[in-house]
Amino acid sequence: MKWWVRYISIFGIFPVITHSFQAQYNGDQVLHLIPTDSEHVEFLKQLVEDEQIDLWRPEFPERIQPQDEVHARIPASALDAVKGELKERALQYSILTENIQDLLDNQIQNEDKQPFNTRAHSYIKYHPMEEIYHWMEQMKENYKELVTQHLLGMTYQKRPMYYLKISRKSDKPKKIIWMDCGIHAREWIAPAFCQWFVREVLEAYTADPDRDRFLQHIDFYILPVLNIDGYIHSWTEDRLWRKSMSPCDNSTCFGTDLNRNFQAKWCSIGASRNCCSIIYCGSAPESEPETIAVAGFLRKHLGDVLCYLTIHSYGQLILMPYGYTNTTASNHEEMMRVGEKAANVLQQKHGTKFKVGPSSWVLYYSSGSSRDWAGDLGIDFSYTFELRDNGTYQFLLPEDQIQPTCEETMDAVTTIIQHVYDKHFPNSTPTVAALWSAVLMSCLLSVHFANLL
Ligand code: ARG
Ligand code: ZN
Repeated sequence: MKWWVRYISIFGIFPVITHSFQAQYNGDQVLHLIPTDSEHVEFLKQLVEDEQIDLWRPEFPERIQPQDEVHARIPASALDAVKGELKERALQYSILTENIQDLLDNQIQNEDKQPFNTRAHSYIKYHPMEEIYHWMEQMKENYKELVTQHLLGMTYQKRPMYYLKISRKSDKPKKIIWMDCGIHAREWIAPAFCQWFVREVLEAYTADPDRDRFLQHIDFYILPVLNIDGYIHSWTEDRLWRKSMSPCDNSTCFGTDLNRNFQAKWCSIGASRNCCSIIYCGSAPESEPETIAVAGFLRKHLGDVLCYLTIHSYGQLILMPYGYTNTTASNHEEMMRVGEKAANVLQQKHGTKFKVGPSSWVLYYSSGSSRDWAGDLGIDFSYTFELRDNGTYQFLLPEDQIQPTCEETMDAVTTIIQHVYDKHFPNSTPTVAALWSAVLMSCLLSVHFANLL
């Protein structure tokens, strides 16, 4: 939506409803279903195929099993017919959400009474893309010595993909920690976390000498929204849009799942060649300009990138290579240890539980993901974060959970970064003993020189 539409709506010309996509799900319900036998299972799979229901849990129809709970969104138009069929087949259900409209209303609280370019950026709200562009400008203005903005590439719809580089001047060679957010459009909490992360690094890190030492050796590269076209589409047209916006040959469907488009056993498993699928892998590996932009950058800087972090939602998981096979990375044990430590630290903040492991073990098989690709490229620490929640709000996480989610995630991410840093710069953190011996030595020397005089 154009900023002026929001501006006008704030001042009441369009009362209350400010986002056109909201009407799209009005009257839709989320049902909780328990299939008890294979007939029920087959019936539900058919409903998914006929697009009568939108499966929320499990992720794919193949995973529907007797006795396992199923969550599904039923469009308002199909509601009566579907419920009738369920009753007929004695397939038990209850209503999880009376009206999806409630979830949509819940996730965005009232607008500030000011146009966005005059008010301070809020880190506990979701922001449309033009505000995120504006925020990047602000960051580089406000932190001139630390922050620069760079063009990574262009999206399919010819929008610039900027990343922020946070870097302290240093004569030492620098290593890179990469973070991208928002490869999937509807996972709004991910870009919110990238913004939070940038602020934390700029405020907390630079205020704390211990953490600031990181910045002598490490540059952060942050891409706040990878799938910009899709993100905009999720604000303006379809809140639950996942993919990019590129067209497909011979199909009225469109969009590629950018997290199936990387050169990691491309489209071999947990991906689809059907453009209408939400996990469409594209026409070829790196067929999408967004994929080329990220992959090209990492290839170019290979050897310097110590850690690749990619932020998604939902599921509360820290995922590691691999999704395309159940065999593990060569440093699997170390990655597990670091991941578990991060999950523990995360839980200490607000009690949120995360699972850790290769995607093929704890989530599902998937080929062509950026995480697996980064792992194959030789980046030792390649993790996907699936942030909150665990299924209650799914992609529609209310704004009042942005802060706790970002706080706990920050602690987990910091734990990983700390490990990576200590491993590569083992001698750069002076221990207390080392500090004291330095002090002692200078005392001895001054006594010595005093005697010489
Ligand atoms: N962000 C995830 C993805 O990359 C999907 C999240 C669905 N989570 C779940 N627990 N089913 O596909
Ligand atoms: Zn995702």
